[in-house]
Amino acid sequence: MATPAHYTGTAIALHWFIAVVLLGQFAFGLALEDIPRGTPERGFYVNLHKSIGILIGLLILLRLAWRLAHKPPPLPDTMAPWQRRAAWFSHAALYICMVALPLSGYLASNFSRHGIKFFNTFRWAPWGPDDKTLYAFFNGAHHLAALLLAIFVFVHVLAVAKHMLIDRDRLLLRMWPQRGAPADQPRSNLPVETR
Ligand code: HEM
Ligand code: HEM
Repeated sequence: MATPAHYTGTAIALHWFIAVVLLGQFAFGLALEDIPRGTPERGFYVNLHKSIGILIGLLILLRLAWRLAHKPPPLPDTMAPWQRRAAWFSHAALYICMVALPLSGYLASNFSRHGIKFFNTFRWAPWGPDDKTLYAFFNGAHHLAALLLAIFVFVHVLAVAKHMLIDRDRLLLRMWPQRGAPADQPRSNLPVETR
């Protein structure tokens, strides 16, 4: 069977690195709920969550910029038009949630007197007023974006499982590290023997 065309080494590295750190940061966010409010311990961990979240947010922006500048490999010919549209929309939804999550957290922090103490060392004074309504709005957006991301990732994984187990088109290989492949050159859609 033909080896499917695959993403470049850079796209694959960014996809998996961001997937792992996002899952870790997601669990970290949920764990924050168990730390009593108003304690120094909560301040420490919330600032750690904010600091790591900002770094992940920058990495996501880098990934998005890189993606906009590089065309993905063509989808398998066997995919129906509705499947292509579904893939496009679900990937766009994943990117929107990936940007909205850190952005809403960052905005919420700037409408609170706490601001951000980057890695608990230096304080970034908030540029916005201490406004409870705006804070609640962006905090609500942060919670909603986290929930939507979890749902879209679940659907994403189900879609990959359907491709692998039912369609048997080996779609996962498109996003799987390739041994000995040049970092930034996607291979063609041709069978291995003719490459
Ligand atoms: C980049 C990825 C991020 C992910 C995946 C993430 C995820 C989460 C999750 C799952 C929660 C718990 C929400 C809930 O219980 O419904 C949370 C809470 C929180 N996040 Fe994030 N977050 C990210 C980035 C940020 C950033 C950049 C900031 C601020 C600069 C931030 C600030 C907060 C704060 C303050 C809370 C606690 C809110 C509360 O207890 O009311 N997060 N985050
Ligand atoms: C936090 C978790 C994840 C996020 C945010 C995420 C996000 C994305 C995004 C945005 C794309 C589109 C890439 C592009 O065209 O720019 C993509 C593609 C892909 N992802 Fe994920 N992903 C996650 C986890 C996973 C997991 C666990 C798997 C494996 C089951 C997976 C397998 C794939 C595959 C195979 C593709 C390529 C799809 C295609 O060929 O069109 N992803 N992912």
